[in-house]
Amino acid sequence: MTEQAQEGRVTEHDEATRPVSLLELDDVSVTYRIASGEVPAVRGVSLTLDSGAALGVAGESGSGKSTLAMALLRLLPRDARVGGRILLDGEDVLAMKWGRMRAVRWAEASIVFQGAQHGLNPVRRIGDQIAEPLLVHGLAKPDAARKRVAELLDQVGLPAWRARSYPHELSGGQRQRVMIAMALACSPRLIIADEPTTALDVMVQAQVLSLIKELIAEHGISLIMISHDLSVLADVCDRLAVMYAGRVVEHGPSAEVFHKAEHPYSRALAAAFPTVGDPVSRMAPKGLGGDPPDPMQLPGGCSFHPRCPVALDECSTLDVQLWPAGPARAAACVHVRPTAPSDPEQDVEAKKEEESS
Ligand SMILES: Nc1ncnc2c1ncn2[C@@H]1O[C@H](COP(=O)(O)OP(=O)(O)OP(=O)(O)O)[C@@H](O)[C@H]1O
Ligand code: SF4
Ligand SMILES: [Mg+2]
Repeated sequence: MTEQAQEGRVTEHDEATRPVSLLELDDVSVTYRIASGEVPAVRGVSLTLDSGAALGVAGESGSGKSTLAMALLRLLPRDARVGGRILLDGEDVLAMKWGRMRAVRWAEASIVFQGAQHGLNPVRRIGDQIAEPLLVHGLAKPDAARKRVAELLDQVGLPAWRARSYPHELSGGQRQRVMIAMALACSPRLIIADEPTTALDVMVQAQVLSLIKELIAEHGISLIMISHDLSVLADVCDRLAVMYAGRVVEHGPSAEVFHKAEHPYSRALAAAFPTVGDPVSRMAPKGLGGDPPDPMQLPGGCSFHPRCPVALDECSTLDVQLWPAGPARAAACVHVRPTAPSDPEQDVEAKKEEESS
């Protein structure tokens, strides 16, 4: 771990009382190599996810959310260089042999991709697509797989006869339910859901979100859910991490980050989107000024300073860290930086001067 990450890291639990983490990210970075140079898409992310917990990852387009999600299961293209450490149930993901990695995908941790409903094979019946990981991983024979498909469809609120449907015969919400059934097929301990509801209208979005909430609670599954929309994440997840320009700029309990964000970017993000089910706020979202930075030309100091409404002069050069911002919370902003401890000798001198004047 780099010195910077060590300083910036905030442990979320006392060592003695800390539950075993299902997932630990330690100073994770991802750099894409492209013809014109290097794209630092994820920079020094350290987070933990406890067993059975749900973590929301928020941030604007390009902040590195999908890149981080794909790094967790080594699904990135070859031109991506991954640094740091990713421990899944104590096992080093980046050091796993390919055979082990394939077994971990689906069976221990599965991912519902961004825009995945368009990723269903249009010429295969959905029952066959849901059964595929069970058959490929040798977890069921064809008869048992068929039964399991019916059970999974029931769990996601679809009738068993839908197994014979083709994707184009389903609505967007139903297709997303199928994707969730596929993710559940091998009973994973962790599901990573990348924008699982973004393409859906608000009513269907709310239904799919409550389905996800129910399923994770019922089966004790841990969840990492990614979205632009902090209100959606706060509704489903225990904790939130907000990413900006490849870094986590704030993390903490959902309600606190959503309602009382310490980082000005999290505050803007919380104000920029509607509350689920509230049509008035949906009609009047407060936007953020400016655009996220080009990762190949990141501003110096705090990357958010060109857009920040409360920036100080020092922010353009500041070595910003994830400083503690309350119990189990941290924010990368000068406004939560702990003041330097005072020098007792100087204090005595200052007091003498004060008394003599
Ligand atoms: N294969 C790739 N090669 C080069 N750069 C990439 C590649 N994939 C993503 N990037 C860049 O990495 C950065 C992070 O992208 P990523 O897709 O992780 O963002 P995101 O937060 O998921 O955005 P969105 O909300 O739009 O899905 C962006 O600047 C993007 O252009
Ligand atoms: S460190 Fe400065 S620029 Fe960055 S978020 Fe805080 S006040 Fe804004
Ligand atoms: Mg994405």
